[in-house]
Amino acid sequence: MIKIGVCGLGMMGLTHIDIYGAMDGVEVVAVADADEARLSGATKAAGNIEGQAQGGLDYARVQKFSDAGDLIAQGDVDVVDICLPTPLHGRFALLAMAAKKHVLVEKPLCRTAQEAREFADAAQQAETIVMPAMCMRFWPGWDWLHDVVHTQKYGAVLGATFRRVVSHPGGRFYLDGDQCGGALLDLHIHDTDFINYCFGKPQAVTSTGYSKDSGAIDHVMTQYHYDDVPLVAAEGGWSMSEGYDFSMRYTVNFEKATACFDLARENPLMVFANGQDPQVITLAPEMGYNFEIAYFLECIREKKEPIQVTLSSAAEALEIYEAELKSIETKQRVDVV
Ligand SMILES: NC(=O)c1ccc[n+]([C@@H]2O[C@H](COP(=O)([O-])OP(=O)(O)OC[C@H]3O[C@@H](n4cnc5c(N)ncnc54)[C@H](O)[C@@H]3O)[C@@H](O)[C@H]2O)c1
Repeated sequence: MIKIGVCGLGMMGLTHIDIYGAMDGVEVVAVADADEARLSGATKAAGNIEGQAQGGLDYARVQKFSDAGDLIAQGDVDVVDICLPTPLHGRFALLAMAAKKHVLVEKPLCRTAQEAREFADAAQQAETIVMPAMCMRFWPGWDWLHDVVHTQKYGAVLGATFRRVVSHPGGRFYLDGDQCGGALLDLHIHDTDFINYCFGKPQAVTSTGYSKDSGAIDHVMTQYHYDDVPLVAAEGGWSMSEGYDFSMRYTVNFEKATACFDLARENPLMVFANGQDPQVITLAPEMGYNFEIAYFLECIREKKEPIQVTLSSAAEALEIYEAELKSIETKQRVDVV
């Protein structure tokens, strides 16, 4: 039995708890939250996607801590799952690593690229499995896209556009741009990371964006510049008015087909090719979080380093994010270092 301690009982902590709860061979035995109401289970955060963050846990049966540091020091756990506000990720992940716990750490890896790079470098000495939770790499229909880009099943990519927009989630963390980094960091990093996963690190970015709710950039449009892919762009934002449904999409135009994913459709993934009927690609019904956590646990059980996502790649996503921010501020194309 792998014993899990979850730090942070917001939307993400509850989502992870649901997933562990449905799995064999793992048990959430400890939780930590600085908010007493959340720690007791009296109040629950809500998620973007229907069915997410139900938080099905018997709070009376687990060890409870009001600080993540106490869970790490005193919790009888094998795994520390860090679902804390972003600026706390690095500090507590390193503490957990030093305590010889396996660590799953939510995205974005850290608040700044420098901190993320230092964390990734330090974690090379870890004796345990330390994995960043870049969930899009595991999302049904997105893992498929990564495969067909790499196998060139439909030929080379001519153009790839991504869109992830929603209304503002509310809550203290998401209203404070210094903490969450605005949608540019918190939301759009899903696509920044996925683009890096599919196409490698771009040479440069050109971004435009604006601030609305958090004081940081809440809506961004970025063009990622590559020598070998003519057009890669992504829009991300939580600046839509209330009631605007969460939209998660991509359209990728290959030489021989067009692939479209739209979470809002009954069949999210379709492939169109000249002279052929549109094809529905059947997807697993689970969210990417399920596969991400299953992979993390598989790495623990089989004592293997995660390769589908690495700390270094999560730090690269932060480096690209900082180039995007600089591009918005300077209104210039910015090289990605
Ligand atoms: N992978 C995804 O799709 C996804 C989705 C949403 C959020 N996230 C990430 O997950 C993280 C958490 O997001 P959230 O929406 O759950 O945030 P949240 O603010 O709702 O929850 C964070 C919780 O951490 C608690 N906390 C703060 N300091 C603490 C401490 N020292 N010890 C113990 N608890 C402490 C807070 O009381 C709060 O309940 C963020 O980094 C966010 O970017 C990822």
